[in-house]
Amino acid sequence: MKILGVETSCDETSVAILAEHSVLVNLVSSQSLHQQYGGIVPEYASREHLRIIQNMITEALAKSGLTIQDIDAIAVTQGPGLMGALLVGLSFCKGLAYVSGKPLIGVNHVEGHIMANFLDHPNLKFPFLSLLASGGHTLLVNVQNFQDYEIWGRSLDDAAGEAFDKAARILQLGFPGGPLVDKLAATGNSEFFPFPRAKTKRENQDFSFSGLKTAILYLARQKGNDWVQEHVADLCASYQEAIIEMLLTNTLNVARQRNVYRLVLAGGVVANSRLRSVFQNAALREGLEIYFPSLKYCTDNAAMIAYTGTELFKRHQFSSWDISAIPNLPLTSDN
Ligand code: KG4
Ligand code: ZN
Repeated sequence: MKILGVETSCDETSVAILAEHSVLVNLVSSQSLHQQYGGIVPEYASREHLRIIQNMITEALAKSGLTIQDIDAIAVTQGPGLMGALLVGLSFCKGLAYVSGKPLIGVNHVEGHIMANFLDHPNLKFPFLSLLASGGHTLLVNVQNFQDYEIWGRSLDDAAGEAFDKAARILQLGFPGGPLVDKLAATGNSEFFPFPRAKTKRENQDFSFSGLKTAILYLARQKGNDWVQEHVADLCASYQEAIIEMLLTNTLNVARQRNVYRLVLAGGVVANSRLRSVFQNAALREGLEIYFPSLKYCTDNAAMIAYTGTELFKRHQFSSWDISAIPNLPLTSDN
């Protein structure tokens, strides 16, 4: 079985082809045009997807030595994400599926991130607790089985990735901020500044990152640009440590309360080098099995969409032609 996957929910256009569970090709084009604005401009993101999507699908087919007729179904990100960006991928895939006579499979982007773990760890077993930390979401999800999800914790304001990106903007590092903060933090002192660790009402489960962002904004304003630039690595290390500590504290609390023994990390923030080692050590201490995707499957990619599409195909869960770019599962911070 061969599934074509397409992902256009944010600022990466990605096309992948999976044969059963093996990745034949996974092309990712990251839109650098947003760098000059210090954040994603949704209209430009949609236009850029539109400009390259057809060529990327053609290239993916050519690279895997296939034609569209060899494909069994087309899996596409249905949401959540930027509406215009999603509609480019969804509309294109609807048209392609219709004219080529292939089934269409709408995939939830958040579910795709969690499922990305199976690309690297095919023997991973359900159930598990998943910490999903990306630019749009920070969730603790009880994953009982494929398609069987319960949200145990969520961010009440910013997502963890957003906290990284906003700090990078304040420190004038560029966009996206996560990888830049990660790199600078490696040479900094994480005890340089005591950034606040927010507590929420359900402090063992929910997250809050907006106070952290405000703290670095006021600090930068108060101290001035010269001071900020002089201590930029120490600020990155201290700020990053606060995010990781908040993520870890709640994850471990929930794991202890709910007798979890398997932890699965997912999403762009999980590409963070310090986060990976902190969680790895904590899991060892707590006797938890831990899994995270390889770096290329942490950030947005179509292989995770094609993988989820493969699982849906096996269960004959196809989408109708009238699906819109609205997530098909209760797996967002808003539910
Ligand atoms: O999963 P993703 O690619 O897209 C969304 O679904 O949002 O996540 C993107 C987020 C961005 O906020 C980016 O800054 C963050 O993941 N990110 C990182 C790292 N690499 C990407 N955050 C911290 N450290 C990293 N190395
Ligand atoms: Zn994502």
